[in-house]
Amino acid sequence: MSNREKIYYCQPVFRPPSEHASLLIQLTEGCSFKCDFCMSNLQKQFKIRDLDDVKRDLNVAKKLYGSNVRKIFFLDGNALVTPTEKLLKLTNYAMNTFPKLERIGVYAHAKDILKKSDEQLNALSEAGLKIAYVGFESGYDDLLKNVNKHATKQDYIEASKKLMKANITLSATFINGLGGGNNTEISEKHAKESADLVNKICPEDDRIWYIAFLTLIVPPGTEIFKRKINGEFLEMNQIEILHELKTFIKHIKFENKNANCIFRSNHASNYLPLRGILDREKQKILEVINYGLTHTEVLRPDFFRAL
Ligand SMILES: C[S@@+](CC[C@H](N)C(=O)[O-])C[C@H]1O[C@@H](n2cnc3c(N)ncnc32)[C@H](O)[C@@H]1O
Repeated sequence: MSNREKIYYCQPVFRPPSEHASLLIQLTEGCSFKCDFCMSNLQKQFKIRDLDDVKRDLNVAKKLYGSNVRKIFFLDGNALVTPTEKLLKLTNYAMNTFPKLERIGVYAHAKDILKKSDEQLNALSEAGLKIAYVGFESGYDDLLKNVNKHATKQDYIEASKKLMKANITLSATFINGLGGGNNTEISEKHAKESADLVNKICPEDDRIWYIAFLTLIVPPGTEIFKRKINGEFLEMNQIEILHELKTFIKHIKFENKNANCIFRSNHASNYLPLRGILDREKQKILEVINYGLTHTEVLRPDFFRAL
């Protein structure tokens, strides 16, 4: 096969674990934000690719995989930053190219969502953009500032409501251990403010939405890595991580008893795989955390953890 018939990828690519079976299409490269813990910008200069180049990749994908593709994920770190008109054209093009396509997904920074009007988000949703993965990381503003997230708890509340109003499924991630070890006060605030954020965005209906906790990995080259080397940042141990997660779960309380919030903490970075529906299965999740706290031999060893 000639180079022209290969789909272009700028490696390493960034996609959510749940998009492992999706057709990956490189719409942007890297991320337009630079958070202190993230490695998506270490080896890449951020760019939005040309419309025709992305269309060509969709055509090549059709030749390679046929027309049965059901899910597409537009790479990389925050493809929702793409101007709406271009994103709309590509979403429509993808839907026309693959008639059985059920959804297109993107990573989105809260600010990318807030910059789009309700009408623009509605148009994208109706065209086929059905899920946005948003890195909340924490609901604690001081911590968000400290890791250069460029977003606040209030931004997340507004961005989540906008997504839900446009019928785009929200999948939000938090980072366990983001505030570092040996500091109970920061850890408690991180857990409680994050739970309060989740409580506040809970929709009134029974739609499905996702909340996940990853556990901090300190990738070489990142700002947080530099702080660790300088002795300014200490990583949490397994027990601190589980206590932080336990505090988060304990403080989840939804008024809507039909809420369908799928909670997951079963990523390769996590010590203990957890899954359940919030807040209905809170007790079950807490029991598994307590089991992990008292049977540390079941926890994933550090050398098996990864992003
Ligand atoms: C590739 S990033 C894209 C995030 C998106 N740009 C945003 O701002 O929402 C995806 C998610 O991976 C998680 N992540 C990134 N670096 C991480 C790290 N070093 N340790 C744990 N989780 C990390 C964060 O939750 C982050 O939001």
